[in-house]
Amino acid sequence: MQPTSIHDSVREHYAELARTSNSCCGSNTGNSMLYDEKLIQTVPADISGFSLGCGDPITLAKLQPGETVLDLGSGGGLDCFLASKQVGEAGRVIGVDMTPDMLAKARANAQRLGYPNVEFREGYLEALPVEDHTVDVVISNCVINLSPDKPQVFREVFRTLKPGGRVAVSDIVTNSALPKKMQKNMEAWGACVAGALDQREYVRGLREAGFVNVQVQPKSQTDQALAALPIGVPFSATVTGRRPLENEQPLGEMSSEVTTESTQSALEQFDGLKQLIGDITDLNAIENGYDLRLQGDPKLIRARVEELRNAVGCCTPLRFELVEAPDGLHLHLTNAPETAFVSIDSLN
Ligand SMILES: C[S@@+](CC[C@H](N)C(=O)[O-])C[C@H]1O[C@@H](n2cnc3c(N)ncnc32)[C@H](O)[C@@H]1O
Repeated sequence: MQPTSIHDSVREHYAELARTSNSCCGSNTGNSMLYDEKLIQTVPADISGFSLGCGDPITLAKLQPGETVLDLGSGGGLDCFLASKQVGEAGRVIGVDMTPDMLAKARANAQRLGYPNVEFREGYLEALPVEDHTVDVVISNCVINLSPDKPQVFREVFRTLKPGGRVAVSDIVTNSALPKKMQKNMEAWGACVAGALDQREYVRGLREAGFVNVQVQPKSQTDQALAALPIGVPFSATVTGRRPLENEQPLGEMSSEVTTESTQSALEQFDGLKQLIGDITDLNAIENGYDLRLQGDPKLIRARVEELRNAVGCCTPLRFELVEAPDGLHLHLTNAPETAFVSIDSLN
């Protein structure tokens, strides 16, 4: 396979992170909070602290003893090590990554832990170094968004899975198109933002590759709230699907979906956001996000923005800032420069 300039740029970004050992939130323990404490405690703290993921595909995958697991973009190996414990000695875990520095880190960790059933292979998601129909479960944590050819990744995942095999992925997706400038920015690619697929495209892509029971859902209540915003923003999602059994009858359109009901219920549960959306009277793109003009009681608007800001976790690339202008209050919804996701300077 011929790597593209996006592969090269993304590889450079992650090679640097592997060498400097930073997690996406700028601290070495930032992302271990993505996992249940009991689960994450099964590996040493320095290994659990090196997570560049955006969710917990291990719990999502409901792994069984004896299963073969393939982790796409295995990074420092955390999800592979967590999976290894769950599939046991009769099972097997293969991590694939294109960045030699990441593979070196993962292999050093594996040697230290001494897990006999984990191996790391160098390769691309778009040309997986894995035999046909040999995998029970494909997992991945915040990686598919980084691929410049997602339909090819979906075809490769399908090829490697056994009939009846499943996909359990955590990824960044969008609710609609991101600002054009962000889509073109290489740093934003590396930071898991620019390449994020619209959640409906994700479903369509997996279905076209042959998967059934495809679901793309916002990961948490905050992600549901972000997905409900009337503008294009990235958020974390869980993605599940299944390769049909041989001779299985296609189940039709209804079997695959983006869960729009969850967006509705987010609006119901997240009262402040629902009202905030109702307060928007004008929407304009600005340099690195959106300017929303709001109408209503300034005190209430401030309280709702505060609620939204508090609800957003450490790994969102978004910042919510209230700005007073002659025509009233404006909410600037922009990329947060303090996260490693996107540097605002790089968008200029
Ligand atoms: C955001 S990190 C996630 C690492 C790991 N899954 C975790 O949760 O910590 C993305 C990883 O995917 C790898 N990667 C990105 N695009 C890839 C591609 N097209 N093929 C293979 N590996 C890729 C990078 O080298 C990097 O290690």
